[in-house]
Amino acid sequence: MQQEEVEKYRKAQEIASEVIRYAKSIIKPGMKLLEIAEKIESKIQELGGKPAFPTNLCINEIAAHFTPSHDDETKASGLLKIDLGVHVDGCIIDTAFPLDLEDNEENKKLIEASEEALSAALKIAKPGIEIWKIGQKIQEIITKKGFSPIRNLSGHELGKYKVHAGITIPNYNNNNKTKLKKGVYAIEPFSTNGQGIIYEGKPSGIYRLKEKKPVRDKMSRKILNFIETEYKTLPFCSRWLIEKFGTRILFSLKQLEQQEILHQYPQLIEKGHGKVSQSEKTIFINDKTETSTKIANWFF
Ligand code: CO
Repeated sequence: MQQEEVEKYRKAQEIASEVIRYAKSIIKPGMKLLEIAEKIESKIQELGGKPAFPTNLCINEIAAHFTPSHDDETKASGLLKIDLGVHVDGCIIDTAFPLDLEDNEENKKLIEASEEALSAALKIAKPGIEIWKIGQKIQEIITKKGFSPIRNLSGHELGKYKVHAGITIPNYNNNNKTKLKKGVYAIEPFSTNGQGIIYEGKPSGIYRLKEKKPVRDKMSRKILNFIETEYKTLPFCSRWLIEKFGTRILFSLKQLEQQEILHQYPQLIEKGHGKVSQSEKTIFINDKTETSTKIANWFF
């Protein structure tokens, strides 16, 4: 990694930490998710970064991939997960934290489980460790608290302009003997009092460019060019495009999805409709040094 890139990660990380502090200070029960998402995303830009993906705001049994649509009225409640990404020229920091917005004992325990699983995983995520061991640690801690990890959601390597690149980091012992090597990774344990499996629910309004193909419709072509320039291979949402071009782009999005130029992510729902907590941090792994959540400690 070049020094220049290190600086970009450092900046993205500073912005992410600041935005987490900010988000924790503004989120209150009953606040519209739309307002929360917009404030978080504006803050990221105000601090000189860009959102690496639309802010995910998932309540209770929704584990991932919910971002408010442009006219969403949903209010913050229950066990809320805030999953946000910051990038500086494609260098991504992916991070998430849970909040209990109803002063509920079970929520608090679920939060404790995902938080403790994350800290334990970060402690053992050293260069050369086989990834099943990280999964096993996460599983062990969450299970000990009487809950289940979500097995079909996992941490992941982060690449330039890629939220999911290379290897995945399991949330249970999947017997995968791949060794952790130099790179940037997001570790994200999910704890639930449900079945520990998610299924694909309704469309989320979150998309990413899948494959560029020729487009005949003028408006769709314009939108596609904008997507390519602005987001490259990073996820974006209909809300962002509507803000810029108005609701007429919904038709183009539909067309581009039908032509398999865009992929739309489904919402991910816990199978037993259990509550879900999620904790996530991005770490830097070098072949020489200790793992760190601070790029400052990453030597090259
Ligand atoms: Co992630």
